[in-house]
Amino acid sequence: MFPLLLLVHIAGSIAAPAPKCALDNIDIKGGEYREVKGEDFMRVVYKCPEGLYAHPSNSRDCLYNGKWSNDKVKAECRAVECPRPVMFDNGVYYPRQKKYFIGDVLHFECWGGFEMFGPGNRTCQANGKWSGEVTKCDDKEGDCPNPGVPIGSTKVGTSYKIEGTVKYECQSGLRMFGSKERTCMENKRWSGAEPSCRFPFTFDTPTEVAEIFSSSLSETIEASDPDKLDKQSDRKIQVKKDGLMNIFIIIDSSKSVGPDNFKTAKEASIVFIEKMASFDFIPRYAVISYASYAKPIVRLSDDDSTDADAVIERIRKFSYREHDDKMGTNTRGALIEVHGMLSLQNTNEPQKFLETRNVILLMTDGKHNMGGDPVVEMKKIRELLDIRKNNNREDFLDVYVFGLGEDISENEINDIASKKDPEKHVFKMESVDHMKEAFDEMLDEAEVLQMCGLSKDPSKGEEGVQEVYPWIAKITITRPGSEEKCKGSIVSRFFILTAAHCFHLDDSPQAVNVRVGDKALKVKNLHRHSKYNPAGKQDKKVEKSFDYDLALIELENKIEYSRKVRPICLPCTSATTWALKKRGQAVTCNDHKNTVLDSELVKAMFVAEETQNKFERMNVTIKRGDKRNACLEDTKKIEKFKDIPDITDAITENFLCTGGVQPYVDPQTCKGDSGGPLIVQYKQRYVQVGVISWGTINTCIGPKRKPEPVPALSRDFHTDLFHMLDWLEGNEHLAQELQFLK
Ligand SMILES: *[C@@H]1O[C@H](CO)[C@@H](O)[C@H](O)[C@H]1NC(C)=O
Ligand SMILES: *[C@@H]1O[C@H](CO)[C@@H](O)[C@H](O)[C@H]1NC(C)=O
Repeated sequence: MFPLLLLVHIAGSIAAPAPKCALDNIDIKGGEYREVKGEDFMRVVYKCPEGLYAHPSNSRDCLYNGKWSNDKVKAECRAVECPRPVMFDNGVYYPRQKKYFIGDVLHFECWGGFEMFGPGNRTCQANGKWSGEVTKCDDKEGDCPNPGVPIGSTKVGTSYKIEGTVKYECQSGLRMFGSKERTCMENKRWSGAEPSCRFPFTFDTPTEVAEIFSSSLSETIEASDPDKLDKQSDRKIQVKKDGLMNIFIIIDSSKSVGPDNFKTAKEASIVFIEKMASFDFIPRYAVISYASYAKPIVRLSDDDSTDADAVIERIRKFSYREHDDKMGTNTRGALIEVHGMLSLQNTNEPQKFLETRNVILLMTDGKHNMGGDPVVEMKKIRELLDIRKNNNREDFLDVYVFGLGEDISENEINDIASKKDPEKHVFKMESVDHMKEAFDEMLDEAEVLQMCGLSKDPSKGEEGVQEVYPWIAKITITRPGSEEKCKGSIVSRFFILTAAHCFHLDDSPQAVNVRVGDKALKVKNLHRHSKYNPAGKQDKKVEKSFDYDLALIELENKIEYSRKVRPICLPCTSATTWALKKRGQAVTCNDHKNTVLDSELVKAMFVAEETQNKFERMNVTIKRGDKRNACLEDTKKIEKFKDIPDITDAITENFLCTGGVQPYVDPQTCKGDSGGPLIVQYKQRYVQVGVISWGTINTCIGPKRKPEPVPALSRDFHTDLFHMLDWLEGNEHLAQELQFLK
């Protein structure tokens, strides 16, 4: 026995050499092919021009008998078709054709007495799907609405009374996603998910998936957003902010995946986790890789399973080679792991377990070939979560399945995935690259507008657009014969934070014009810091004191947040606790400070507008501790400040210092930048730590910086918000909006 075991082990760990197949006759009519070779496999992948698909399959694998898979038929590119309608309830459709190709339009009309729901026209799209939703004609006589007949299907059953059922079948050659059978439930909705019928060559595009997946996910995740409370949400229970959610990510690492695709699947998982991390909640992660056996990369019970960074790090480190047996696809094995981790959680924290939502993300490029039927295990997981008919616990499990490539079994992935009306949980995508693309696009920040310090990622191309710096406010003060420009930041729905020195004592709210995005806002009131007093230190030879250079502009009307207009995070507020991924009640203002100002040299930024309406990021370094002393010393060497006996009268404790050339050359702030935010980026979130106040040497030409480096002695000073909290909290209206930490 012993030697045999050893032998098996060795045999399993040595990769078989790649099989060899001849390339004669492998080409595709009307398209191109390329070879993909691995250590132990050989494949050709076909590519057809837009609007065509590769028949009979878009790749062929070299088999160990020296033959290509699917080699009975010569490969050719064929025109993409959309399914043909065979049945339509209570109305007519035209034109009637045997086949419908890209660009063909179907028109629908309802009979008298029936109202149309859905589009009157649908167009055949490039991926072989009809545009828009299923068109339905309804007389509203049933308890449930007419569930419709998706194009390509037939429906049996016409009772739309409670308990009534309808059954669907796809026409031959088409594959079904969604529910084969649906029942009209007591809540007058249909059970399950609307079916769809599609050709095997039809893949979901990244854009389609991004949209559908993220809207379904954000239904699940959506933290209590006051803006959305009045909106009708189909899913009633919301995740509490302290994130009672488990997220399982299951990655296929079987042999057919190949190292490159495995890497992309890992990257896609990381993108997904990063996107989740921008939400105001903290889920617990489990990551499982599977081939013949399942291997947990991160377990639910691991100490760091709520730490997105640690989870990402472990995914990065996990190598494709860690599966020594990649021959099998044991999907059930992966789900058994999920079940095991959930059972353990149930044992340890039974009460919390039942309140915790679960999201399973399963990626696969094939069908199971060992370990038994995964659907059986999914049933057990549902039992464990106590999900039964009519006990309203469906919300506690969402299973999303991503079938990648054409070797998947549509039936299998459809059976595993959740079926919830009106969402979709099963996707078939051309490749893992497309899935990653979809994750990149999804969970648009627009879904979570009330969250502070979020913005469009500038690496997505459009540096300079308003969406990248959506919290910047432009302020113009009009006085007889002159105009002054400042910047500010949106800190709440009713307040803009800026510098006190932008205003004169006699400026009226009407003289102040505030613009955010492309909207002008009406000003109700100006609040300058009560201790701001520019002439207050003249006895100490400080000609103009900027101490407490801070002001709040109170707005007449609430700001409507949008992608272009949203708030930045202010230190020591509860929203920022979330942005900084701090947990629990005990988080203090000091914790915030230690997180964002974590060293003597802190990377920070401000936003400049050297060309009108084109914002640019300016990286600067905040000097603290010993490094800040150099700011005082260098300032003393400048002519205008030489006569000040004690420089700390000008540069009080209330200022953050940037500028100069050590250790990096910092761009200078110029006139017009005043009042704008000094920002520290923390992961994907932006926290304002200062307000741009004054500088020691001005070499700007108006609002523009000179191309050459700043003088070595020059420094910029910013009102330190960590020192201004008393005054900010003292504004009752603002405190109400922001919930400052105790
Ligand atoms: C459908 O298309 C027809 C002809 O192209 C057009 O006249 C009609 O307005 C469209 N109907 C709808 C509901 O879009
Ligand atoms: C500023 O810093 C960020 C983050 O470190 C970096 O991605 C960006 O390229 C920098 N921008 C400039 C203009 O140096």
